[in-house]
Parts: sequence; C-alpha cells; structure tokens
Amino acid sequence: MRAWLLDRIGSIQHLRLGEAPDPVPGEGEVLMRVEYAGLNPADRYLAEGLYPAKPALPHILGRDGCGLVDGQRMVILRGEAGVTRPGTFAGLAAVPADCLAPAPEGWTAEQCGGAPLVYLTAYQALTMWGELKDAAVLVTGASGGVGTACVHLARALGHQVIALSRSAEKGRRLREEGAGLVLDPSERGWPGRIREFLGGRKVDLAVDTIGGELFPRVIESLADQGRVSCVGRLAGPVPSFNTATLFFKRLRIGGVSVGAYRPPEARADFAQVLRLLGNTGKTPLVDSVWEFPRLPEAFARLAQGPLGKVVLKVS
Ligand SMILES: NC(=O)c1ccc[n+]([C@@H]2O[C@H](COP(=O)([O-])OP(=O)(O)OC[C@H]3O[C@@H](n4cnc5c(N)ncnc54)[C@H](OP(=O)(O)O)[C@@H]3O)[C@@H](O)[C@H]2O)c1
Repeated sequence: MRAWLLDRIGSIQHLRLGEAPDPVPGEGEVLMRVEYAGLNPADRYLAEGLYPAKPALPHILGRDGCGLVDGQRMVILRGEAGVTRPGTFAGLAAVPADCLAPAPEGWTAEQCGGAPLVYLTAYQALTMWGELKDAAVLVTGASGGVGTACVHLARALGHQVIALSRSAEKGRRLREEGAGLVLDPSERGWPGRIREFLGGRKVDLAVDTIGGELFPRVIESLADQGRVSCVGRLAGPVPSFNTATLFFKRLRIGGVSVGAYRPPEARADFAQVLRLLGNTGKTPLVDSVWEFPRLPEAFARLAQGPLGKVVLKVS
C-alpha cells in the first residue's frame, strides 16, 4: 500500500512517501480502506519526539480518519492508530472495531476524516467540570480544529462564547459559527473587553489550546471559581505564573486528554456531540483538503493556523 513513512524521530521533514506492507488486522481489529485523514498538531509533536509514544519505525502517522470497512463508511473516534501503531496516512489501516462509529448523517467524507477527535476533545473540555448553565466560555486558538469544535458545542450547550483569534478574517467566520465576541489575543486589553461584553461578569470556563504567555491573561479573565480546561500548548511553556492568582479566586485548572477515553465512553460522548450539533444544525469546518502526495504542504498549512480541520485525501 501507499504510505507516508516516518523513518526517524526528529522532524516532520523526515516523512517520506513510499510503500509499506498491507496491515493484517489482529484480534478485535478490522481493516479500513482509508478515504480521508485529519492532521493534528500532535502528529508533528510525535515526529519531533515531543510526544510520550515511542512507536516502532518506520512509523505511519495519522490518528484521525474515515474509510470503508466492509463497504460501509466508518469514522475513527480515538485509538492507538497513528500513535503507538501505524496510522491513517496510508491506503489501509488496521483499527480496533470498538474505536469506530458509523459516519454521522449529513457529514461529508472530508468532515468524517477530520472531525471526530477534535469534537470529542472539545466535549471533554466543556463537560469535565460537571454541568454548567448559561456560562461564559472563553476559547483560545478558537479557529483551530479543537477551537471551532468548542465554539459549536459551547453554543449548543447554551453558553456564551468568547473566542480568541489573531486573524480578523477568521474572527468574522467565528462569529457566524456562534461566537458572541471575538478578540485578538495580541491586543493587551482583551480581558477587559470581555468584562464590558458580559456586563461586568467574567469568564466561567476557559478552554485553552495555547498556553505560553497567553496563559496568565486567560487566568486574569476568569471569574471567582472559574475553571481552565487545558487542552494544548501551541505557544509552548508558560514563562511565569503566580499561583496566588489561583487561591484568591479559588480557580481550578484541569488537563484534557482525548487519549484517556475508553471506547464505550468515546462512543457515548460522540453520540452526545452529534445530538448537540443536531440541535443547532452546525457541522464541522474543513479548512482545506490536500491530495495524498501533498502531506508536507498540508502540515505547513496546519502550522499557519487553519479555520477548522486540515484534511488529507488518501484514496
Ligand atoms: N489534550 C488533548 O487531548 C488534545 C486533543 C487535540 C488537540 N490537542 C492540542 O490542542 C492544541 C490545538 O489543537 P488544534 O488541532 O485545535 O490546532 P490547530 O487546528 O492547529 O489550531 C490552533 C489555532 O491556534 C492558533 N495558534 C496557533 N499557534 C499559535 C500561537 N503560537 N500563539 C497563539 N495562537 C496560536 C491559531 O489560530 P489563529 O491564527 O486564529 O490565532 C490556530 O488556528 C494543540 O496543542 C494540540 O496538540 C490536545
């Protein structure tokens, strides 16, 4: 089969288009003829050696995807494909049957290929603190895969959404997708603008995919007993952080891990995701679709900052 192969850890530049033996499904697994595969920043982290998994080499990246299993289109919810096992940047993938769900009604194949993992991540980030009602939710990196999923799901849960994006153009689109207010995180006064928008209130829940220098500002935007669901750290480590900011407002910070989902939980939460999206009529945003040989360009697009998912057309 055709496959993108990672011969050594160090850089995404080490990916090479080549041939690999067809995978043989093990017990409990099925063979998927991959149609579309979503790109994730974690693929790059793994290639750079910044991810805990140490797969056998050459490795096939790609943890997201959809394809045909016995003639039916299925989506991968979450599994070890592309992490510790060969993934979806290949014509065929062996995936555990319990990590699959039927393609959601009304979703295109491109949406199926890229969206399930980020919607499960967003769902976990929004619901892990118990039930919140009519909350003010801040989403950083809101134009990304996880961010756009958070905007859709937070609105569907009845919350007010404040989104951060460095791009005015993407900001306009995010308002159409359900954000009540979009702010540029490079403008220093943005936490104050949220208070104006909320009539003096502050943020109840922040979903943060950025970390870095933005993180203390996210903390500043929170109300008493506010929470932060930490999803990612696209801007790297937090340079300095005064923990006193936590105890004065009794704030809580928690980690999100889509990888921690067990298959039955993932299927149950994905059903909730589809129910919520069904209430609002929203479907996942696809930023761009790339032909199979153009994977390096697709990764370059992901690094620029997409609007929704960057997807690879596999077959
Ligand atoms: N914990 C988990 O289970 C889990 C699951 C999935 C993803 N993640 C992590 O979550 C993070 C986001 O993933 P994603 O798929 O949403 O990424 P993405 O699609 O690449 O989007 C991230 C968005 O963040 C903004 N951004 C990127 N780099 C930035 C920087 N240095 N400073 C400020 N803003 C920046 C960009 O928006 P603008 O250009 O509009 O500002 C971009 O569109 C990644 O670190 C990923 O590894 C974690």
